[in-house]
Amino acid sequence: MAQLEAQDLAQAVVNRMADCQEPRFKQVMTSLVKHAHAFVQDVQLTPEEWMTAIQFLTATGKMCDEKRQEFILLSDTLGISMLVVAIDQARGAAAYKAGNGEDVPTEATVQGPFYWEGAPELELGADIGAGNSGEPCYYHGRVTDLAGKPIAHCALDVWSGDGEGFYDMQKGVNVGMALRARFYTDAQGNYRFWSIKPTFYPVPDDGPVGGMLRRMGRHPNRPGHMHMMLHAPGHERLTTHIFVANSPYIDSDAVFGVRNSLIVDFASHAPGKAADGRVMDKPYHSAHYDFRLVPAA
Ligand code: BEZ
Ligand code: FE
Repeated sequence: MAQLEAQDLAQAVVNRMADCQEPRFKQVMTSLVKHAHAFVQDVQLTPEEWMTAIQFLTATGKMCDEKRQEFILLSDTLGISMLVVAIDQARGAAAYKAGNGEDVPTEATVQGPFYWEGAPELELGADIGAGNSGEPCYYHGRVTDLAGKPIAHCALDVWSGDGEGFYDMQKGVNVGMALRARFYTDAQGNYRFWSIKPTFYPVPDDGPVGGMLRRMGRHPNRPGHMHMMLHAPGHERLTTHIFVANSPYIDSDAVFGVRNSLIVDFASHAPGKAADGRVMDKPYHSAHYDFRLVPAA
């Protein structure tokens, strides 16, 4: 039978994969085809709308290079990146059953496009905020396993935008790294460093995804946050942020990355001696957060 009716098209596409040798790929493509066809049926998509969608995806692809990844931004703003993170973390938690008073792991969130491999390795206590706009902030805490045992020499990559919400990568082609570093926890699992208190900022909205957000009636902003990526032998890598409590947009993050357990009170301090002995001649903030890592699968 040569002719296929509209309602049979999805199954016909799936049937053509009879010779596919990769079970997982076949499963993913089968579901994708079925959901895509159901979506087109659901909204009764017109040829003009389908062409608009194709032009949008083409423009999105054209805005991707080593500095800009519009497709990841699309995934982020549609909540898909965060869904994938949540599924992955649930899978990890299911593989490792906490018990005997063990604590829950620190929650993960999106990585975002501004991670830059190869940030300088600095001594604990170093100030990566000096020379950048923004109010100084002292970050400190401890990294442990789920039983509370300290994890020594855990790599802690940190990065953020400046006090006006701009990342180094957004400041032009020849601007070097700023507001990012790698630290290692000490023998007791402690970390500490100085940076700035991050402010809210818009995700890049001068491309097709920005246009989509405007048509959807959405703002492009993320609440203030410090990115952190932790990695220690014998433990799963954790990519997360700590969020500034009371930051604008804490309840409407454009990429849906906020987790309640990652919201931190950034305490305000008058000038004087900080917890690490540094004497501050202007007001500053401090943020305390302890991380719990899952054992490697
Ligand atoms: C970020 O937090 O750096 C970010 C995350 C997703 C999209 C854009 C930026
Ligand atoms: Fe960010």
